[in-house]
Amino acid sequence: MSEHHEKMTKTTPMQVVFASLGGLIPPLIAIFLIVQLVLSIQHSHVDKDADEALVKTVAERIKPVGEVKVVDANAPKVEKSGEEVFNAVCTACHTSGALNAPKLNNKGDWAKRIGQGYDTLVKNAINGIRGMPARGGAADLSDLEVQRAVVYMANSSGAKFTAPQ
Ligand code: HEC
Repeated sequence: MSEHHEKMTKTTPMQVVFASLGGLIPPLIAIFLIVQLVLSIQHSHVDKDADEALVKTVAERIKPVGEVKVVDANAPKVEKSGEEVFNAVCTACHTSGALNAPKLNNKGDWAKRIGQGYDTLVKNAINGIRGMPARGGAADLSDLEVQRAVVYMANSSGAKFTAPQ
């Protein structure tokens, strides 16, 4: 054996330390990577939960707006226009002339009735008269809404009433 070869094979304490460290490093790296992997998986789950929580929070923040709108539609009653009331209620009889109801856009049907005057028409529409049910059968209509519907119908057939505000 040459002197050179002897030098190469002789193990110094330093080499033992390095060799030991060298043997430790790969498993340490592996463990480090596994921990990283687990952490990243957990993190992505946390992110997903956080996203869901965010969506919920946003949904809850948006919700009251929708509720306020619903309350607006119901509680502080928004008075419908004459045309809206007509299309919702009165049209059932006053478009076809069912039960001999005076028809929309029919001057002949309305001329004599308009002659009674606005107040009488409104009173009869609110209280009902013969085949005409009180408030057209829609008890939830306000006086104002019935008045507007009367004006809408009568004005379609020759009257020139002013719709109450
Ligand atoms: C179920 C059918 C029906 C519905 C719904 C109805 N009406 Fe009538 N309405 C009649 C009939 C029938 C008459 C004719 C009554 C009569 O003079 O014999 C009439 C007559 C009237 C008159 C004339 C009253 C008069 O003094 O000559 C007015 C005004 C009137 N309706 C308003 C309304 C309004 C406003 C609505 C909707 C809110 C409505 N009606 C819904 C059947 C209906």
